[in-house]
Amino acid sequence: MILVTGATGNIGSALLKELRAHGAGPLRGLTRDVAGAGLPEGVEAVAGSLADVASLKPALTGVRSLFLVSRLGPDEEILEAAREAGVEHVVLVSSITVQTHSHLGPAAENLAVEQALKSSGMDWTILRPTQFASNSLMWAASIRAHETVHAPYADAALPTIHPADIAAVARVALTEPGHHGRTYALTGPDPVTARQQTEAIAAALGREVPFTEISRQEAHSAMATVFGEEAADAVLDVSGGDLNDAIRAVRDTVEQVTGSPARPFRQWAAENAAAFRS
Ligand SMILES: NC(=O)c1ccc[n+]([C@@H]2O[C@H](COP(=O)([O-])OP(=O)(O)OC[C@H]3O[C@@H](n4cnc5c(N)ncnc54)[C@H](OP(=O)(O)O)[C@@H]3O)[C@@H](O)[C@H]2O)c1
Repeated sequence: MILVTGATGNIGSALLKELRAHGAGPLRGLTRDVAGAGLPEGVEAVAGSLADVASLKPALTGVRSLFLVSRLGPDEEILEAAREAGVEHVVLVSSITVQTHSHLGPAAENLAVEQALKSSGMDWTILRPTQFASNSLMWAASIRAHETVHAPYADAALPTIHPADIAAVARVALTEPGHHGRTYALTGPDPVTARQQTEAIAAALGREVPFTEISRQEAHSAMATVFGEEAADAVLDVSGGDLNDAIRAVRDTVEQVTGSPARPFRQWAAENAAAFRS
């Protein structure tokens, strides 16, 4: 049995489709809302919250392989519950910032989870993706309303990754030999700026999408109310304010692991145009 957490999210939903397409199974998806989850046919939806470790018992029963998205609950306790339930292998979604911005709070938290997994006694594979193409969904409401997209660091280029590529790597790690004890830094195929992302979404929609760069301060005020001061600063640093060569680097890990090249941002935009259409 494979348990996928974040089953309704960007990576998890793509991973369940991938696993189904490759005939892997049996499969289970964790969600807080079984009725609304809409998981693929053949996937057992099981209720539970990562924030409430005791609630995970039904989902973990009989599981040998666990796909875990980090930082949605007390990860060390979740790993302990998984080990007690008999889980043998965990594929963990961490973050590339563990190796590019280790001084930031969220990166240090991910590193602590990675270390807890490595010392858990279970087999492990760690995925360290860079920023997701799906982060541009934060502009969806503005674009649907034909309003201007506002973003800081408009021309900072990062090799944004399609979540389906993270899912493809996870599927291989979960179902094929040779990936235990490996840490994979994952990026897309080419650097893309916020301005270029908006242009790609505009191209997918077949119309203009106005774009205006805003200051760090303006972006920070909007983000801090939702995520808090420290997290807002960390996000702004890694999306443009404090870039370095390591986070800018394009890596071929997706192709090395899956045999297929990583998908460009424009493909993600074309596949997800409906989310931006009014
Ligand atoms: N975005 C980035 O640029 C970036 C970069 C590096 C790493 N990451 C990591 O990627 C992961 C996010 O992946 P994603 O984009 O696929 O997720 P997502 O689309 O944001 O979806 C979040 C998923 O988590 C589930 N969830 C939220 N709170 C939960 C809880 N308390 N208990 C159980 N499930 C819960 C939701 O499921 P239900 O609502 O159905 O319960 C949903 O399926 C995180 O670990 C994040 O740290 C993100």
